[in-house]
Amino acid sequence: MKCPQHLNDVDLFAPGAQEHWFDAYDILHEHAPVHRIPGEGYLPGSDGFILSRFEDIEKVVKNPERFPPTLTLGVQVLKQANIPLEEQKHVNAMVASIATLRPNMTLWRSHKQELTDPWVGTGAGRHKDMIRRFVHQLIDNWIDKTEVEFISEFARPLPQMVMATMLGFPLEDIAQLAKWGAAQVMPFVYGKGHRNELSEEQLQAQFKELDGFKEYVQERVEEKRAHPGDDMISFLTQVTYKALGRKLTDIEINGVVYAMVIGGLETTQYAIEEEAQLLCETDGLWQVLKADRSKLRAFTEESMRLRSPTQGLSTRTTSQDEVFQGVKVPKGSMLHLRWGAANRDPTAFECPKEINLNRQPITRHLTFSAGPRTCPGNSLSRLEQTIAWDCLLDRLARIEYAPGNTFEHQPGIMFGTLELKLKIEKAT
Ligand code: HEM
Repeated sequence: MKCPQHLNDVDLFAPGAQEHWFDAYDILHEHAPVHRIPGEGYLPGSDGFILSRFEDIEKVVKNPERFPPTLTLGVQVLKQANIPLEEQKHVNAMVASIATLRPNMTLWRSHKQELTDPWVGTGAGRHKDMIRRFVHQLIDNWIDKTEVEFISEFARPLPQMVMATMLGFPLEDIAQLAKWGAAQVMPFVYGKGHRNELSEEQLQAQFKELDGFKEYVQERVEEKRAHPGDDMISFLTQVTYKALGRKLTDIEINGVVYAMVIGGLETTQYAIEEEAQLLCETDGLWQVLKADRSKLRAFTEESMRLRSPTQGLSTRTTSQDEVFQGVKVPKGSMLHLRWGAANRDPTAFECPKEINLNRQPITRHLTFSAGPRTCPGNSLSRLEQTIAWDCLLDRLARIEYAPGNTFEHQPGIMFGTLELKLKIEKAT
């Protein structure tokens, strides 16, 4: 796809669009900050709208009652069928568990506070030593070389090892878990349009690939119910979910595990990989961070603002007629929230294309969304990123691009390259 020059050239979802997304955002900000996608709404006959302004997206995500999430609405529709969700076609364990554990906003909050925060949110700090250990283990594999393919040798395996260990899966199962993880994110890679829709054929292939995942998790749940260890699945088998006054069923635990795996792998991989690219591209940045680790957090936040791993999602609808930037958006429309564009919105950030470690407040970006439905795993991911760079800065004297990088981006809605060859020099 060619670099867009005019609004008519802008199609964020065309094959190859990733290569020019940031140019497209400039055009959208100037000419169509509320960009209609005809016929692509939530209710029949309605339209979809791409929102690219920070203030509009922030307003939407902070008010889930007024802008209901598609996932919650979808679960309500599935429940009307009066067949248990796990028995319905193409319904995965995560969606089934949403129906019972968090069908409304009050329970959504409780789910986060009681079930996931202790492991990937406020309690993520418990994983510090484990993350540091894996980071060093991965670096040991290539520290004496002069070149490394950074994604396959570091950015991808790190979140896989952390996730497996946190959940309570043996590391030997990572190759299989990675296949299942890839099948789960298929819609975000191969799905068409802003809704990331798979064809019936692709859906069948996805469910075939996922064959065995439910059973695998079920076996671990049974083991850990009998012999709990210090891991998230053990916790989920023991905890009383106060909001409902009961323990979780096996299928509900399966659903929570599904959500962790689908949310927590590629996202963090791309964050770390893009951080490496920013370090290669920005003069002096490596030295600044090497000398002062208190700036690391600002670096990872700015990197995620500039190169948001999840660029956009059609996860909200309108429950009433709305007006954004003077554009009428009727009830029943679908809202595509373009986090990656909001984070580069010149009306929200001064010099938005520059990395600025002194930006205040540094976490103001929308990379993890915001409000009550904000990404539940953001603390874990942030911790993985800062520990990774703290150790890499300790053990390497420098990194730079190695020859032969194509910088081709992965298809779909995520922002990350398919490979990244780095020249490295060991610190003395
Ligand atoms: C840089 C890394 C990450 C990014 C950029 C990211 C981004 C996002 C975004 C934008 C949403 C959508 C929120 C909305 O619709 O308002 C989301 C949801 C979600 N994320 Fe993340 N995420 C990351 C890491 C993680 C990790 C490490 C986990 C798990 C440990 C995780 C688990 C989830 C889950 C389960 C949801 C769905 C909402 C829910 O079930 O409560 N994410 N994430």
